[in-house]
Formats: sequence, structure tokens, C-alpha cells
Amino acid sequence: MEKEINESIQGQSLILDERQGNTKKMFIESYGCQMNFSDSEIVASILANEGYNTTQNLEEADLVLVNTCSIRDKAEQTVRKRLEQYNAVKKINPTMKVGVLGCMAERLKEKFLDEEKIVDMVVGPDAYKDIPNLLKEVEDGRDAINVILSKEETYGDIAPVRLNSNGVNAFVSITRGCDNMCTFCVVPFTRGRERSREPQSILSEIQDLWDKGYKEVTLLGQNVDSYLWYGGGLKKDFVKATEMQKATAVDFAQLLDMCATQFPKMRFRFSTSNPQDMHIEVIETMAKHHNICKYIHLPVQSGSTRILEAMNRQHTREEYMALVDKIYEIIPEISLSQDMIAGFPTETEEDHQDTLSLMEHAKYDFGFMFAYSERPGTLAARKMEDDVPEEVKKRRLNEIIALQQKLGWERTRRFLGQEVEVLIEKESKRSDAHWSGRNSQNTVVVFPKENYKPGDFVMVKVTDCTSATLIGEAVGYAERMQS
Ligand code: SAH
Ligand code: F3S
Repeated sequence: MEKEINESIQGQSLILDERQGNTKKMFIESYGCQMNFSDSEIVASILANEGYNTTQNLEEADLVLVNTCSIRDKAEQTVRKRLEQYNAVKKINPTMKVGVLGCMAERLKEKFLDEEKIVDMVVGPDAYKDIPNLLKEVEDGRDAINVILSKEETYGDIAPVRLNSNGVNAFVSITRGCDNMCTFCVVPFTRGRERSREPQSILSEIQDLWDKGYKEVTLLGQNVDSYLWYGGGLKKDFVKATEMQKATAVDFAQLLDMCATQFPKMRFRFSTSNPQDMHIEVIETMAKHHNICKYIHLPVQSGSTRILEAMNRQHTREEYMALVDKIYEIIPEISLSQDMIAGFPTETEEDHQDTLSLMEHAKYDFGFMFAYSERPGTLAARKMEDDVPEEVKKRRLNEIIALQQKLGWERTRRFLGQEVEVLIEKESKRSDAHWSGRNSQNTVVVFPKENYKPGDFVMVKVTDCTSATLIGEAVGYAERMQS
């Protein structure tokens, strides 16, 4: 299942087809959210034009790049450990250069070059097009850094190379940055102001994916519902747009409608939705199109209005619950998932109980749950004491996880006896005689292979399930395969 932090792919290194004539080798590794993995595909595309092929063998690399995550302290520690390992390799291969990309590069800036002696290059998320210049400086023996955040950069003009792809699912980024300023979150500082990518460049990337045989696209952004194209520029400057720009602007519901209409046989997902920006039009657009998956990742972080306010989430517990009710009313078969933070500063037992009761109300299919980690520079770090003891955070987190497991189990069981449409993605991890894919609601489905193949849409009769996986048998191709 896809989620913003997919533990099974953390640190995965990327390979792409060798380009003839390229003589240098780069090793590129990514941590954190899907956006980082997507950005690494852009970086690989830029470097392919600079003479680099990818390698999975660290020892033979001329250039090692690590695309980093700052969201929690643990994410940064993982990268620091990895840098120590690169250091050991650098002793065997002293000409190897090391570059740090992504959110940690942006957060730590020059400090990286001072603290981590092995780092030669530091590049923030909006400066990847400058990598060829930075590499020249590195080759001349100087440390190189570019952490300038941009108001325009969307990399809309760069065709990302698809790395380690199954040829079925792809991610297409539609916005960069975030303007929401949740008080716990480092993203607005590391990824800058929010800007949207031109609809035409999104549609042509999807066309290209369709031509290459891809069957499912996930539209990516820190906050997709806030997507707004009015000819370029920052979301926050929309108030200054001309009447003409305002009249021809494209919002997320319209973009989704354009995608679903133009590519009726492609399946669409999107991530992430911020409840404060999720509008009824988006839900109605989802209901209208069979090819928009019936799944919304709708992070809430806490079920207590007081904590939500301290987090600057811009909605109350009641408003969130009303939104959830509305979604279930318009799309009864929808599945929802959450992100939750346990132990935000000042959180009491009562606040925690509010979180648990909100979860019962929302009946989430899935959840991604974390203990609060104070991030330097955020408003919470500056203004609030991290006062919930570690063991209390852990206990609350465990209670949240246990409840989510129970809810997830109940939700998975609802498909028993039903026929569900599955897009086959790959072989099941547990058995080479079974395919694995997902239904519209994002639940993993496994079934015997027969003569089907990855990329096929198949109707599967569900006969059994575990807590998060449906087990069944194919009963034929789905309707969309037939016309
Ligand atoms: N809008 C983004 C959210 C990015 S952060 C998206 O596309 O998913 C992903 C999740 O990490 C957040 O929803 C939150 O639950 C968690 N998170 C962010 N900052 C955190 C912190 N300081 N401590 C613990 N968890 C955090
Ligand atoms: Fe972070 Fe809140 Fe934006 S969680 S990414 S500041 S929506």
C-alpha cells in the first residue's frame, strides 16, 4: 500500500537503463516521502545528460547522492548513519564525491559541510537543475552548495526517468512546497512556498505514461487539494491575480476531472489531502468518475480541538467529523486513512481519548502513526515545551496503533464475499503462484495468477482475508479491459 513514508522502500537505491556513451557512475538513494523518490527520478534524468549512469554498487560510484528527509529526528539519524558508511567506502575509493539532497540539505545548509566532513555538495529541493554547475565546482576541489528555495520551480519541463518501476503505477507531482504552517512540521521550511504545476505539463506526462503502458497514476503534493493554477506563481499570490487569470484558473477538482476524462482507462489516486482544503467538489468529482479510486488519505494528527488549534490545523474535531460524514454520505464505499501524532506538547489523557474516539467515528481503513518529534525552527519548538514524557508518548502511540489495527481488520472484512476490481501490480511477496494488486479502496488483494498479467484489471471474488490483505480468485477481466 502506498503511503507517505513507505518503510519497505526507505534507502532504496535507484537504477535506470544505461545510456550509451555515459562513462561516469552515480549511486542515488532516497529516504522519506514519495515526493523525494519522485524528485530522485528528476535528478537522475538531469544527471543522465551529464554523462552519468546509475549503479547499485556503492564501491564503484563516482558520485553518491542521498535524498534526505527531516520530518522526524529518527529520519535524520538514519541518514547520518548512512553517511558514516559512505565515509568508510570513501577510504577505499577516495575520488568518490558525496552529495546530500532534499529536506536535510535545506534544513542544515552550510552546517552540513562543516559537520559532516565527507559531504562535498549540498542541494536543496528547488535547486536540482543547478547540480551540473555544482558538480563542476566539486571537480575543481571546492565544496558546493545551493539551497535557494524558488517561487516558480516545479520541474514541469523535466521528463523524470522512471526508476525501479513495475511499469504499472507511477507518481506525478502536481504541487511543490506547503503554505499550511502546521506548528510541528518542518516541510514549509525545507520545501518552501506552495506552487502548482501547469495542467498541460501534468496531462502530457500522464499521456507519456499511458503510451508506455502505465495503468495507474498517483497525483502527488504535500497538500493536493490546494492545487491552483492561474498562469504560474505562488498560491498565496492568487489574490493579486488579474480577473482573466482568476476566471481561467484550474483548481484540484477541475484538474482531477480533466485527468479522469482525458484518460478514461487510467486509474487515478492522489495524496495527500489536508482536511482544511478538501472541498465538496473534489468528493463529487471522485463520485462522478469510475476511474478515480475511492480512497482518501486524510491526515488529522489529533482528535482534540484544543490540540488541533495548537497545531494550527485550521479545523475542529467536529468539522473534521462532519467532513468524514459527508464523504461517507457521497461515496459510501470509500476508504479513509489517517496520519496521527501522539504526545504533541500539552496533550492530556483527555485529548488522547478524543483521538481514540475520533478514530472510532472515522473508521479508518489504514493509518500512519507517529510519536511527536520536536523539529528545530518550527513554531512548536520555539513556543512550546516538548513536555509529554517519552514513555507516555509511546504508550499513547501503542494504543492508537492497536485501535487502528482493530478498525483496519473490521474494514478489510467488509469485502468478504464481494467482487472487487484489482489492478495487478506484481507477484505476491509470499507466493510466486499469486499476483498482488490493489482494489479501488487501496486494500491489497492476492489471488492465483492463472493467465493474467501485471497491468491487467481483473475482477476478483474475495473468499478470505487477513487483517490488511484480501485473498480471492479471479472471475474475469474487469469491464474497462473489454472496450
Ligand atoms: N502533507 C504532507 C504531510 C507530510 S508529513 C503529506 O504529503 O503527507 C507526514 C506526516 O508526518 C504528517 O501528517 C504527520 O503525521 C507526521 N509528522 C510531521 N511532522 C512531525 C513531527 N514533528 N513529529 C511527528 N510526526 C510528524
Ligand atoms: Fe506539514 Fe501541515 Fe504542510 S503537516 S506538509 S505543514 S499540511
